[in-house]
Amino acid sequence: MHTILLTGGAGFIGSHLTRLFVRKYANYKIVNLDKLTYAGNLENLRDIENEPNYQFIKGDITDLELLRKLFAEYKFTAVLHCAAESHVDRSITDPLAFINTNVLGTASLLQAAKEAWSGEFENKIFYHISTDEVYGSLGETGFFTEETAYDPRSPYSASKASSDHIVRAFYHTYKMPVKISNCSNNYGPYHFPEKLIPLCIHNIINNKPLPIYGKGENVRDWLYVEDHVKAIDVVFHNGKIGETYNIGGHNEWTNISLVKELCRQMDGKLGREKGSSEKLITYVTDRAGHDLRYAIDATKLKDELGWTPSLQFEEGISKTIDWYLANAEWLKHVTSGDYQKYYNSQYRS
Ligand code: NAD
Ligand code: DAU
Repeated sequence: MHTILLTGGAGFIGSHLTRLFVRKYANYKIVNLDKLTYAGNLENLRDIENEPNYQFIKGDITDLELLRKLFAEYKFTAVLHCAAESHVDRSITDPLAFINTNVLGTASLLQAAKEAWSGEFENKIFYHISTDEVYGSLGETGFFTEETAYDPRSPYSASKASSDHIVRAFYHTYKMPVKISNCSNNYGPYHFPEKLIPLCIHNIINNKPLPIYGKGENVRDWLYVEDHVKAIDVVFHNGKIGETYNIGGHNEWTNISLVKELCRQMDGKLGREKGSSEKLITYVTDRAGHDLRYAIDATKLKDELGWTPSLQFEEGISKTIDWYLANAEWLKHVTSGDYQKYYNSQYRS
């Protein structure tokens, strides 16, 4: 039995995590604290919003007074910390927003939990959801393991690395019962169309250019979002306190081959002439400090806790495209308003 403070539950991964926990654990109460930034959207949670074990609270994780009040009122036994500023490109234009939410926000949550639990750590868990980007960039070979030294290179990854260090500091200093997982690139339904895959799906639907940074040779390791949240469930319940677990898809793609695969599948699904979407590919100025390659070694998670990804990429991407085609209204809502302003300034060159 847990009463869980889940942060960032209205975002991409957070909404899948909320759904999984609300549906699977009727005896848990899930309180979703989310600021509803441009990336947070309550439409992502429509199907579970009236469940008796779910509650939404609008609020900011940097607001320590609010966190203290919530801990006093709900007597949380666990934190699933998903809230973050998450888009690398935005961290290049506005790094302080990332330091604020990802570093100060995480520290505030730890502080509120520490005060509320005041040394009574039996049956308590502070789970911090993090990224493989903290490890830096790989060359053409090798994988990130849990022992790889941190080498973050963007304001986003540096802010996530800082937050990981602060979480570990609370474990070592105060014996706070923490768990951390570092995951590779996720994809799937409810992914905000500023990230590569949903942006290209949206643009293919609308016959707009598909912007590829540099030569498209950067490599990412893609994991279906439902597999990520299943791994979080496994680590939350069976992972060891104080430990870190890497989560990844063993599924590396260069950006250009990934986008070509999207084009191929979407031509078929949209009944377009073979090769027509590929013509939309447009090479644009590279991302500043663009990490070449990420690839996760998830052996520890497999050997110790038995988790492996369940979906093959071709199947996952096909399901993802189908979801976007069936949810045109969702896509329309999230791409109205400020989205257009962001898009124009990001892709003006
Ligand atoms: P997202 O940007 O889709 O969602 C973030 C959510 O956090 C939004 O709902 C937003 O409103 C909320 N939020 C932002 N600032 C807040 C604040 N100050 N207070 C309260 N809520 C706030 O992010 P995502 O892609 O779902 O990522 C979730 C987590 O997983 C992040 O910690 C990210 O670093 C990590 N992660 C993401 C990926 C990925 O591929 N997307 C991979 C590995 C790890
Ligand atoms: O590795 C995990 C990380 O994956 C998470 O921690 C981040 O929150 C998440 O946003 C993601 O970061 P990336 O920068 O890898 O994801 P993005 O979808 O922004 O970009 C994927 C690759 O595609 C990257 O090499 C940059 C490139 N790209 C991206 C965009 C938006 C393009 O070529 N063109 C684009 O328009």
